Amino acid sequence: MKSSELRHAFFTFFTQRGHTSVPSSSLIPADDPTLLFANAGMNQFKGLFLGTEQRTYTRAVSIQKCIRAGGKHNDLENVGFTDRHLTFFEMMGNFSFGDYFKHEAILFAWEFLTNTIALNPDTLWVSVFEQDNEAYDIWHTHIGIPRQRIIRLGARDNFWQMGDTGPCGPCTEIYVDRGTNYGCAENTCAPGCHCNRFLEIWNLVFMQYNRQSDGIDLPLAKTGVDTGMGLDRLCAVVQNVSSVFETDLFMPIITAIERLSEKRYASSTPDIKAAFRVLADHIRSTTCAIADGCVPAADGRGYVLRKIIRRAALFAQKLSPEPFFPALVDSVISTLGPWYPDLTTRRDVIYTILSQEVEQFSRNLTRGTQVLTNHFTESGPAHTISGTMAFTLYDTYGFPLELTKVIAHEHGVSVDVAGFEKEMDRQRAQSIKKSGTPVLPIPTTMSTTFTGYSELLSKAPVQALITEHNTLTTTVESGTDCWVITTQTPFYVECGGQVSDQGVVQINGYTTPITGLLKQGNAIAFRITAPQQIRCGDFITMQVDQQARAQTTKNHTATHLLQAALMAQFGPSIKQAGSLVTPHYLRFDFSCAVPVTTAQLQSIETIINEQICNNIPVNTRITTLAEAQQAGVTAFFGEKYNPEQVRVVAIPGVSAELCGGTHVRATGDIGLCKITELSSPSAGNKRIVAVTGPTAFRLFQTIASTAKSISLQLRVPEERVYDTVAGQQEHIKQLHTQLRTNRKELITLRMPRWVEQMHTTSSLSYGIVVLEQVPVDELRDAAQQLAAQASGLWCVIGTELAQEKVSCIITVTSGLSTATAMKDLLSMLATVHIKGGVRDTTIHGGAPRMPEGLRSVIEAWIQKHST
Ligand code: SER
Repeated sequence: MKSSELRHAFFTFFTQRGHTSVPSSSLIPADDPTLLFANAGMNQFKGLFLGTEQRTYTRAVSIQKCIRAGGKHNDLENVGFTDRHLTFFEMMGNFSFGDYFKHEAILFAWEFLTNTIALNPDTLWVSVFEQDNEAYDIWHTHIGIPRQRIIRLGARDNFWQMGDTGPCGPCTEIYVDRGTNYGCAENTCAPGCHCNRFLEIWNLVFMQYNRQSDGIDLPLAKTGVDTGMGLDRLCAVVQNVSSVFETDLFMPIITAIERLSEKRYASSTPDIKAAFRVLADHIRSTTCAIADGCVPAADGRGYVLRKIIRRAALFAQKLSPEPFFPALVDSVISTLGPWYPDLTTRRDVIYTILSQEVEQFSRNLTRGTQVLTNHFTESGPAHTISGTMAFTLYDTYGFPLELTKVIAHEHGVSVDVAGFEKEMDRQRAQSIKKSGTPVLPIPTTMSTTFTGYSELLSKAPVQALITEHNTLTTTVESGTDCWVITTQTPFYVECGGQVSDQGVVQINGYTTPITGLLKQGNAIAFRITAPQQIRCGDFITMQVDQQARAQTTKNHTATHLLQAALMAQFGPSIKQAGSLVTPHYLRFDFSCAVPVTTAQLQSIETIINEQICNNIPVNTRITTLAEAQQAGVTAFFGEKYNPEQVRVVAIPGVSAELCGGTHVRATGDIGLCKITELSSPSAGNKRIVAVTGPTAFRLFQTIASTAKSISLQLRVPEERVYDTVAGQQEHIKQLHTQLRTNRKELITLRMPRWVEQMHTTSSLSYGIVVLEQVPVDELRDAAQQLAAQASGLWCVIGTELAQEKVSCIITVTSGLSTATAMKDLLSMLATVHIKGGVRDTTIHGGAPRMPEGLRSVIEAWIQKHST
């Protein structure tokens, strides 16, 4: 069976059994800061398991893109060295949300494996959580698996949790016995053994708890089922090949590596084979992550992406001196493109980002590897790489720890990881500010209705209070900082790039500003310093700062116009890579592989302002995700969409986006839009900053009045201001060159007189020359010329061009003094406030103003050093 047939068989099997087919979510987790990348099929259903979200279905089936290269589930270090570890894979899963539980889940899995895809039942083993007698009985009594093929394992293997917090529960795993060729021959070998004989293919999790940050597991209101089976592993079993890399999911990529590196996979040494596997896996994860909007960065998921690319660059070197890794993108598109169309439309962006990242790292890779080679040569082969050294490699050469470990492993030495972490902690302590987003103990069932789309003032009762010590309470005292949760609120909490509202609240006649806003689950909380005692049930009036909101709203709708104009200009492959909408400006990042010209930028600005003049009414509607997608509505990665209830903000004929933000009633309300900045914050990404409304108008006013005054000053019409200034600058440059020549001539002419006026002493003659408004390089030239013409010490001192500060060059004709003596002179010059440095027998110094008593210092020094 081919992988495409397995995909179809899986969806068919479960949809026939009442499951709704749900597409894979983006690899960038929606609205979930606890997760770097989607790492399991259940991520997009987290809210359903927790009971904070409802959908019309209670059974789902999906094949989910996953990356496990950071955080709780991290396979990065193993990739290349085993038959089965990957950073990117696709997880097939069926799910029940308060519907069926252990019995059906086990029956479904068994039927699919032994019936639909006809695996030999005698080769299947299972493990259950050691305390889970129910699952054990189902496998033994209902399915008929003999006791010797059911293993009880502890929490490490058979209790699944998504992260440190969140839904979790005991699980049962299904293994295929691949035979003694793959591992131990003994009868005692069983799942849980570290050999390769038993390949885990399917994990059925029985969701029962919600793990809290203190480690306590609270029972979920409704139990659920979350299963996960790696498509790649199932392919390896069904296609009867020894590793996932030999399945039809990987072979086209392996073939592409063979072609580009001119090496053969099958006949390679284990070392080279590992490089093939690393590249084949890493090109899939990086391609898919970038397609979903991730870009390499110094922290967070961008850093995980960077680590993978750099690890690939290291292994690519073993196969070819050419940096061919980015070129493998096309082989990923040929294998995964049919399932994930974004890969094809964003091919150029992906290729550009990979190429730039590989190129930027290549020099450091060479230099860092050299540092390590020197270390091995100097300290002997068996020397551990110290934490400090690993940190320097990380900090100076950009070597992720994983890379250093790979190289260390190749040399048979270890890395002091604890020492490295210590250095990292030290650095973090210096540089990292706390994110400041607290987790409040708000009951998960509590919700607040947002009224802020239609009103800026609401009155509602308090339903919960949280003290400054983060405890849930029913009363807070006057003067204390607290979070307040009301039943309704007009305050918008930061989401989709739009910043939180500002505003005030009134409690029994007292008015106080809100100092923070937070959305947790479905509840919205604001922070205040209680102006008097507050109790649950008290009514609070909440008022949004109208002016700030109005400006933010203008900027938000303008962002939609900008997005539409960019798509009109560059085509639909433009992808939002982040946005910020504040009362003062809007910022929009998008991935775009080609340069943006000034003319294009102007045309984008023109399109936006035309749409503003057209005064198109902006409307919003609630619909389902499927309907919105069918209607071609633009949706962005990283946003959390409830598939059954999405909000579409439409500017008919121009744009339709999924968006929860606040918008103007008609585009004319924006007034005006001016793009103020175009930059490139990271490889493959562009950033546009713009202002709207009164801010844009003031900007035009300032620009116009500045242009007017310059035109009056220059006595030329405004349209000629630019050319005139450019012409004048050219003229100034020529004048400077002329002045320089004149100064030099003058200095040369005056030189004989300065030589004549030299002071003689018994041991060393000296001359002091004072010049005005001369750049320091000319002072240095003069001093050198003088020392060549007349033997002795020359001090040339002068004011810098158009500056108060003084520069001073003191040089002695070669052979008449030493660097040590000059250092002594420099220390003596401190009394006249000259500071600087010494090179050979020349002092380069400076002083805040012209020094007095310079001559006495020089004479004292000559005296001291005369022999
Ligand atoms: N969430 C479980 C896993 O990732 C089953 O899907 O293994």
